[in-house]
Amino acid sequence: MFLLKSLSAAIVLSAACVALPATERVDFKSSVVEKLKGPPVGWVKDEAAKLDKDATSVTLKIHLVNQDMDKFHELAMNIATPGHALYGNHMSQDAILSMIAPKKESSELVMQWLANEMSSSEAKVTLKGDYVTVLASVNTVEKLLDAEYSTFVRPGTSEKTLRTLQYSLPDVLKGHVDMVQPTTFFGLKSLRSTISEVHPIEDEEEDEEFSIEAVAAVTGCTGTRITPTCLSNLYNFASAKVQTVGLLGIAGFLEEYAIKADFTTFLNSYAITAFNNKAKSFTCAVVNGGTCPSSPPGVEANLDVQYAGSISTSVPNTYYSTAGRGQWLGSGTNTNEPYLEFLNYMLALPDASLPNTLSISYGDDEATVPLAYATNACNLFSQLGARGVSILVSSGDSGVGDTCTVNGKAQFTTAFPAACPWVTTVGGTTGNSPEAAWSGGGGGFSEIFGRPSYQNATVSNWLATDTTHTAVTKYFNASGRAYPDISAQATNFIIVAGGSASGVSGTSCSAPTTAGIIQLLNSGRIAAGKKGLGFLNPWLYNTASTGFTDIKSGKITGCSGQISGAGFSAVAGWDPATGLGTPNYGSLLTFATSTA
Ligand SMILES: *[C@@H]1O[C@H](CO)[C@@H](O)[C@H](O)[C@H]1NC(C)=O
Ligand SMILES: *[C@@H]1O[C@H](CO)[C@@H](O)[C@H](O)[C@H]1NC(C)=O
Repeated sequence: MFLLKSLSAAIVLSAACVALPATERVDFKSSVVEKLKGPPVGWVKDEAAKLDKDATSVTLKIHLVNQDMDKFHELAMNIATPGHALYGNHMSQDAILSMIAPKKESSELVMQWLANEMSSSEAKVTLKGDYVTVLASVNTVEKLLDAEYSTFVRPGTSEKTLRTLQYSLPDVLKGHVDMVQPTTFFGLKSLRSTISEVHPIEDEEEDEEFSIEAVAAVTGCTGTRITPTCLSNLYNFASAKVQTVGLLGIAGFLEEYAIKADFTTFLNSYAITAFNNKAKSFTCAVVNGGTCPSSPPGVEANLDVQYAGSISTSVPNTYYSTAGRGQWLGSGTNTNEPYLEFLNYMLALPDASLPNTLSISYGDDEATVPLAYATNACNLFSQLGARGVSILVSSGDSGVGDTCTVNGKAQFTTAFPAACPWVTTVGGTTGNSPEAAWSGGGGGFSEIFGRPSYQNATVSNWLATDTTHTAVTKYFNASGRAYPDISAQATNFIIVAGGSASGVSGTSCSAPTTAGIIQLLNSGRIAAGKKGLGFLNPWLYNTASTGFTDIKSGKITGCSGQISGAGFSAVAGWDPATGLGTPNYGSLLTFATSTA
């Protein structure tokens, strides 16, 4: 069994692995570990799809249970808590892995199981860090997991995926394996608002949804749309110092391509003059076999790079083009699970290549994400935070939910990864007289993750004193992680896509806006010889909470009339509509400068 000694060695199954002394023979009897009643809302089985299960291969990722995750989380929280002796002592990936590495017994058992079930000609097996990866045909994987893979589509989009509604694992692997993907997780949507898609500028006169009133009052806004200049006046960063150090990252999925020519056109028309960054570009990094073509433009991708890029002055930006849907169709190539691939790619980057800030505008209903998946992805976010990355995530565009039924019960629904306690979740606002909660902005209380310590006092206070939610208390779990943490404008942003200007809405606008602002703080700290802010939330809630403009009007809604009064109101202090409020860069800079 010499092959099992090194945790990071690539291992190919061999006969030597299979032959076990009779006394060590393990019973690999399996039971169902995950079973969905049907695909998540929005997905349907593509009955017409012809899938050659021998010719199509799957890259299966078997995740080994990490040890000491609670201890690591405590450490990650201390690293992010100003005043703690460990504040800012961001960790290397090696240090994290050596702390949480799975038991040797876990990898040994999995390797024995695989050797028992498959021959080396059927599968290529590798062991790296806390994953065992199996590259095999759909047929082989179906036999291994007692699963049945089918093609599922999201009607009205070009999204296609190969997933199974259930899978089984040997009972003996309980406590050793906590997730196998791709299986039951269907994927995250782009959060660019579906209520206001792309509207050509010239059509807006006739378009009621694109009424200009909402933004006409924004300080310094002369046009009819939100622009970077508008935001710089609203959020007090118009006279921010131009920064050149550090790196701002923008996550990209679903074949959303960020187009450099559009970025240039955008900056030529809408760059903040004082920032003098019209000549700026961005780097496109490929993840998981992604590509960086010069067309077609992704509206989400262009929105994200154009706002994060124009606001972050001259700081370099990287767009991570992550492949992973549909590409297996017809060609018989791999299918895999892009979100975990992305997070693992980021974690594997050397310290010097990691962004200081990461903007993510993708998400889905928390209820459609299998528990094991949500827990694993959230753990990966905690690791990225401990590496020193500030992560900004859109809160969602469905208010307190679209359908509001969970397990047959009327309930507000929450979003993932917005509800993960290890990211900073950004809600939506609109207008400026006063700036108010945007009705579609996501907010609420996680059904999976408990309330983290950094927000305990703040959220307890809201629960005890707010009178606007008393009629709806039975529709959410008050002990869950509450979000959003902060918020920013979410409607009528002007973007350039395919050479022409158009308008978009959604909390997809809010995440890159705040990511750009946070990167200015991170770059300022790095230029002054300090560490970046890393995981932000303990700092936000307990040091810098007054660095935000409290939003006290408007309400997030949802549930399509199914629950009367559904939603949360923006009130004085933190609330689950707009969090701590919208950023005041000048004020946040004072806190970022005085924090050790
Ligand atoms: C409420 O959330 C907490 C923390 O996540 C969880 O432990 C508890 O089971 C949830 N209660 C209900 C009734 O869902
Ligand atoms: C959370 O906050 C409440 C109210 O301030 C307090 O009573 C409670 O002890 C806190 N819990 C933790 C774990 O700090």
